[in-house]
Amino acid sequence: MSNTFIMDHPLVKHKITLLRDERTGTKDFRTLVGEIGSLMAYEALRDLPTELVLVKSPVAQSMQPVLAGKKLAVVPILRAGVGMVDGILAMCPSAKVGHIGLYRDEVTHEPHEYYCKLPEHMDERLTIVPDPMLATGGSAVDAVNMLKEKGCKDIRFMCIIAAPEGLKRLEEAHPDIKIYVGCVDEKLNENAYIVPGLGDAGDRIFGTK
Ligand code: PRP
Ligand code: URA
Repeated sequence: MSNTFIMDHPLVKHKITLLRDERTGTKDFRTLVGEIGSLMAYEALRDLPTELVLVKSPVAQSMQPVLAGKKLAVVPILRAGVGMVDGILAMCPSAKVGHIGLYRDEVTHEPHEYYCKLPEHMDERLTIVPDPMLATGGSAVDAVNMLKEKGCKDIRFMCIIAAPEGLKRLEEAHPDIKIYVGCVDEKLNENAYIVPGLGDAGDRIFGTK
């Protein structure tokens, strides 16, 4: 059974199309990235454990489900992953937040680590790793390596757009993790940018360039 889940919800599709549009400015881009983060978190947390508690409605008492208190973490890949964090936290407000800093070398496209700060007890946490773009897959593979070194067992990588090459690389390097993808695009270009993609996600979220 595949551990990769491609979103098929029309709301996600519509919002990704708006993100691609070069006329979408920073404010709307940021809002859309957060909203897609919420919708994808809803999918990624679909199997959270529940337990039954006694609840008394105005009509009758009954046993009903509540979340069983699973520890959660959200660990975005800096910078662009940060854009999805608030949207994810809207679905699971008690999750702890860590950060992994990676940047791609402009020539080799290989990732370089510059920061890692994680919550305690990562071995007990279901960990969502958001990054809007999965291009060559190098950053995602390294981020998951770093999390596994800290003992993480239940890792759920979440991206808005993936290139087929990067998705394959991540699936092969880490067949045990779950991968949530908004849309799989056509290919990478000679600069390892996703085609058609949306350009540089970090620059569009933060208004840099
Ligand atoms: C982008 C993106 C991913 C990475 C994907 O970040 O947010 O982290 O590239 O590329 P890959 O799959 O080929 O590794 P970038 O390195 O541009 O850093 P930024 O978020 O700070 O702009
Ligand atoms: N990083 C981005 O932000 N966009 C791409 O297309 C590839 C990597």
